[in-house]
Amino acid sequence: MSNKLEELHEHYREGDTQFELAGGIEGITKLANDFYDVMGKRQESRKILHMHPTDLTESREKLARFLCGYMNGPELYEEKYGPLALGPAHSHLAIGNTEKEAWLLCMKDALSMQPYSQEFKDFMYMRLCVPAGRIQNRP
Ligand code: HEM
Repeated sequence: MSNKLEELHEHYREGDTQFELAGGIEGITKLANDFYDVMGKRQESRKILHMHPTDLTESREKLARFLCGYMNGPELYEEKYGPLALGPAHSHLAIGNTEKEAWLLCMKDALSMQPYSQEFKDFMYMRLCVPAGRIQNRP
């Protein structure tokens, strides 16, 4: 899996290709909204949904802004909220393997709803597995 990720990184390295392939701000906003819609519907993600504020408006906006920068686009999260370290931002939450897998499952579903190529969906999913693994803070 990591070899495939390296290969795809090579492939998508040029300039802001990743951000563009993800649909720019509009496409990434749709991805973040679909992600939280899925989280609200799936049984597997009930627990992580309840870790969030009841009103998900800000969570949706923060994830979209963060992902723009993460996909090598404009640093919209930082512009509005300042720098973010993902680990410390989640350290008040109990995130074990089950919670991490639930988050990734929602992301996989949300990616499947986007008009991206299958290869790019796989690439984005693999890229997100890395920070998800770092955010996990218990077994
Ligand atoms: C590993 C599983 C994850 C879980 C269970 C999780 C859960 C959460 C929760 C519950 C919040 C809201 C925190 C609060 O309002 O107190 C949050 C915020 C956030 N998460 Fe995650 N998250 C996970 C992984 C990720 C990943 C992989 C990313 C980015 C690639 C991410 C990006 C964010 C961002 C940008 C915020 C807003 C931070 C802030 O401004 O405070 N999360 N997450």
